[in-house]
Amino acid sequence: MKKNNVFELPTMSTALSLLGMAGQVEQLKNENRKISEQAARTILKALDAKDSYTYGHSMRVAYFSLVTGTEAQLSAEEMYELELSAIFHDIGKIGTPDAVLNKPSRLSEEEFLIMKQHPEKSWEILQDYQGFEKIASNARFHHERFDGKGYPLGLKGDEIPTAARIILIADTFDAMTSTRPYRKGLPYEVAFDELIQFSGTQFDPQLVKMFISGMKKEALKGEEEFFIPIMAKKFTKNAA
Ligand SMILES: [Fe+2]
Repeated sequence: MKKNNVFELPTMSTALSLLGMAGQVEQLKNENRKISEQAARTILKALDAKDSYTYGHSMRVAYFSLVTGTEAQLSAEEMYELELSAIFHDIGKIGTPDAVLNKPSRLSEEEFLIMKQHPEKSWEILQDYQGFEKIASNARFHHERFDGKGYPLGLKGDEIPTAARIILIADTFDAMTSTRPYRKGLPYEVAFDELIQFSGTQFDPQLVKMFISGMKKEALKGEEEFFIPIMAKKFTKNAA
């Protein structure tokens, strides 16, 4: 009996103090997240002030990415990282001259080269923020293609982080379906066909399937708005 007590008491107190520590770590993590999310919202407000189209685009890309991530059964941690990566993927466009960013006609070769720098700029902006290393690299690689013909590094297949492969699909889909002053957006079904057509070359074929099936489930809900948790805000689905 005595022997048991000797062993039981420290074991119980150790367990309790470990639990207490785990609680503190969790609390710190939550506080860090709150600060990061506040910083995220502030930076995104700056993007909205500079270029409201890219701001809205980033929110829709986050929504489309989360739909795909849900279909891919990503963990809660992976979904959180995907959401942050998607809302920040084009943050480097803050550094793109307005004349290039908002040009209604086709970009010249030189302008296209300037435009192509934005993933690297996103990465430069994000990489030094502690805890944002993966988010920075997901933003950097969101124009890499599945067949290795993308930029900036020409990574291919699994070399490209899953989040970056998802964001490319979401990004392209939004670019095709959103209405701009100079052209009308494509209907969803036409854009789905385009994604299928470029599966295996531009896009990860498995993720295209997941995106489309997720989007079809979303359509059945008949909602006009979507919610982005980190922004603590609802946005309209209509990309006009
Ligand atoms: Fe981009």
